[in-house]
Amino acid sequence: MPSTLIHEILSFLSLSAALGPISVVASTSSTAYSQTPWSTVSSSLLHTFNTTVDGRLSQGFPFAAPCAMMSNDSSNSTGTTPTCDQIQAGYLDEEFRTNNFGAYTNPQWETCQTTGDQCLLDWRDPKSLAPVLPPNQCKPGSVPSYFIDVESEKDVQAAYDFSRRTEIPLVIKNTGHDYVGRSSAPNSLALWTHNLRNISYSPEFIPEGCTKDEAKPGVTLGAGVQWFEAYAFAEANNITLVGGSDRSVGASGGWLQGGGHSMLSNTMGLGVDRVLQFKVVTPDGQYRIANECQNEDLFFALRGGGGGTFGVVLESTTLASPQTSLHVVVLTLPPNTENSKTGKAGKPHPSQTKQMWSIMIQNGLRWAQEGWGGVASSSAVIYIIPGHLMSKEDAARSMEPLIELGKGVRKDWEAANPNANSTTGPQVVLTDFPSWGTFFDWFASENVASVGVNVALASRLIPKDNFSTSQKQIQLVDNLVNANSMTDNLLFLIDAPSSYPDPNKTTSVTETWRDSIYHVTMISTWNWNSTMEEKKAKYRNVRNAIEGLRRDTPDGAYSNEADVYEPNHEVSFWGANYERLLEIKNKYDPDHLLNCWHCVGWKQELSQYSCYFRDI
Ligand SMILES: Cc1cc2nc3c(=O)[nH]c(=O)nc-3n(C[C@H](O)[C@H](O)[C@H](O)COP(=O)(O)OP(=O)(O)OC[C@H]3O[C@@H](n4cnc5c(N)ncnc54)[C@H](O)[C@@H]3O)c2cc1C
Ligand SMILES: *[C@@H]1O[C@H](CO)[C@@H](O)[C@H](O)[C@H]1NC(C)=O
Ligand SMILES: *[C@@H]1O[C@H](CO)[C@@H](O)[C@H](O)[C@H]1NC(C)=O
Ligand SMILES: *[C@@H]1O[C@H](CO)[C@@H](O)[C@H](O)[C@H]1NC(C)=O
Ligand SMILES: *[C@@H]1O[C@H](CO)[C@@H](O)[C@H](O)[C@H]1NC(C)=O
Ligand SMILES: *[C@@H]1O[C@H](CO)[C@@H](O)[C@H](O)[C@H]1NC(C)=O
Ligand SMILES: *[C@@H]1O[C@H](CO)[C@@H](O)[C@H](O)[C@H]1NC(C)=O
Ligand SMILES: *[C@@H]1O[C@H](CO)[C@@H](O)[C@H](O)[C@H]1NC(C)=O
Ligand SMILES: *[C@@H]1O[C@H](CO)[C@@H](O)[C@H](O)[C@H]1NC(C)=O
Ligand SMILES: *[C@@H]1O[C@H](CO)[C@@H](O)[C@H](O)[C@H]1NC(C)=O
Repeated sequence: MPSTLIHEILSFLSLSAALGPISVVASTSSTAYSQTPWSTVSSSLLHTFNTTVDGRLSQGFPFAAPCAMMSNDSSNSTGTTPTCDQIQAGYLDEEFRTNNFGAYTNPQWETCQTTGDQCLLDWRDPKSLAPVLPPNQCKPGSVPSYFIDVESEKDVQAAYDFSRRTEIPLVIKNTGHDYVGRSSAPNSLALWTHNLRNISYSPEFIPEGCTKDEAKPGVTLGAGVQWFEAYAFAEANNITLVGGSDRSVGASGGWLQGGGHSMLSNTMGLGVDRVLQFKVVTPDGQYRIANECQNEDLFFALRGGGGGTFGVVLESTTLASPQTSLHVVVLTLPPNTENSKTGKAGKPHPSQTKQMWSIMIQNGLRWAQEGWGGVASSSAVIYIIPGHLMSKEDAARSMEPLIELGKGVRKDWEAANPNANSTTGPQVVLTDFPSWGTFFDWFASENVASVGVNVALASRLIPKDNFSTSQKQIQLVDNLVNANSMTDNLLFLIDAPSSYPDPNKTTSVTETWRDSIYHVTMISTWNWNSTMEEKKAKYRNVRNAIEGLRRDTPDGAYSNEADVYEPNHEVSFWGANYERLLEIKNKYDPDHLLNCWHCVGWKQELSQYSCYFRDI
């Protein structure tokens, strides 16, 4: 019976020529579908459901599925389905990915890691079709079976009803940036928030139910708005919005609800410190407003308790600050020519990296107190500070140790490369930008995060205490150097709200954030055709690489950028707030309709997690 039902559903969906790629996917995976609750969904139920959401229910399929059909004929694609050519050209383009439902930033979350079911291209060579052509197959993996293009609270309410009735798991997908795979799940129904794109500015925003005294400048963002648009809007309105360092991360979804760090967070707070109001549909079916004057418990939970847990947010309003200029220091190190054989091509000499990091850490406490934030890797560092906190002369004095290092590096490089073009080679600069938006445009044009690449990540919050004596500084540098030598890439996000206290405990992220100066991340990557054992080895690799830092720091990590297998994750992500978060979860979602990996109230046995490894 199940398999005839599938055919019934498929023919009901009229998966004919117009949706050619999908039938390939389904035909290689009929067993996957037949074992799921979808097999009990009659075509009439699906039809009714589709009508309830005004025809905005669609079948989900992997991003690269059209390539499995060698589909290069746009007449075969629906309005929203790109051709294989477009997919190949856009495979590593972050915005293009977020515009496509079946695409995730780190494509392992399109796959089922425990079965090997996938439909990926080779990120090292997206022009090659071999990965999706026989003997390889194109399978749906973890891409949700169906999705609703969400327009209003009614869609979310309909999805809750449908899930309660059919036991089909729900996922919320916004941009698909999640490093922990919380925006996909096999055989699920997804709520896609991408097209909620309204933006408006209110110089005197009063949270609903509050009084005029509480008015603050606020920008209201539909849940699908991404940072690149929010920043452009802020520029146009001569205001500052504090957001992340990636163009295409969402401003109201997982980023905000899990914490939301920025290079400005040291003095201006995390995303959760600045949010003024959420509009959210809780799993009990209610469309609610959460702010400091109503549903305060829910407001607390949404300020750090994590996305995908307490409801579907349809919009958020966030504090707008006056526009501010920035002083910016940039130092780059030259690649070590001896490195080309070691797989670390392009990286600087390890001793230069160590010297740069030592200077950062020796000055770490002072720079944090003064208000600096930024980002650093083994080969470069960028520090920024709002212009009203310090004059440019003081900024130069403050950063003197780093600037002197840069000058020395530059001098040595020029001596070794007497005929080189002076615009090339290592640089050190202190410059000003008129606004965060202009700085960000420069930053994002120079620094593009890896997209379309399979990634295992691990991270740690590094507390102020670890910078406090020279012995501790040496220990920290050693731990970082060691971790870096074990992984593909290590980043310092100098983004902790270390000068931004939360005395009234209005946010639910771990309090360790405010005791910290750095959030350090490291990654290992793998290819489209890595074996299961190789993938597991990558997850184990980052876990081992972070071990030294884990041993020497308190249990504290950022829920959005943590090891998928973070030990003791409840304490690491939420510290003393966990018990209260769990109570709030049970209050608003008594039937546990919303579930995600390592989220508050995590039920690890659910089949929606069948594609996560359990033996890392
Ligand atoms: C390249 C890159 C750069 C990054 N840079 C930063 C950075 O600078 N600062 C930082 O803090 N983080 C950063 N992150 C991490 C980022 O915060 C997380 O990936 C986050 O989960 C992204 O949220 P999203 O809504 O865009 O993505 P999604 O993957 O779509 O969603 C993430 C989670 O939030 C849930 N969710 C999404 N929308 C909603 C909604 N409307 N209501 C309820 N739940 C929802 C999903 O169910 C899922 O659990 C970065 C990640 C990447 C890949
Ligand atoms: C839902 O209805 C719309 C409009 O009638 C149709 O285009 C779409 O294919 C339907 N979706 C499904 C999954 O049947
Ligand atoms: C699609 O067509 C373009 C030219 O129109 C060609 O270069 C490309 O190789 C084709 N791709 C596939 C997958 O057939
Ligand atoms: C496109 O659709 C036609 C039928 O309309 C079909 O014959 C053809 O094989 C399809 N082409 C591809 C590349 O899928
Ligand atoms: C977006 O803005 C338009 C125009 O103000 C409004 O009609 C619409 O309801 C808004 N959509 C949402 C989802 O808020
Ligand atoms: C932009 O805002 C800043 C800070 O509030 C103010 O000094 C400046 O005059 C404004 N510029 C314009 C063009 O309004
Ligand atoms: C130096 O390099 C820059 C940037 O690559 C280029 O524009 C410039 O023409 C070069 N100058 C010389 C003298 O080669
Ligand atoms: C780092 O700081 C934590 C928290 O204060 C402390 O427990 C730990 O001993 C410190 N470790 C080192 C090596 O400095
Ligand atoms: C904390 O709460 C008190 C009492 O409500 C209030 O006066 C104070 O301004 C709040 N502090 C912050 C930083 O919001
Ligand atoms: C994986 O694919 C690459 C091409 O992308 C190829 O060079 C390599 O040999 C393949 N590895 C295995 C184990 O098949």
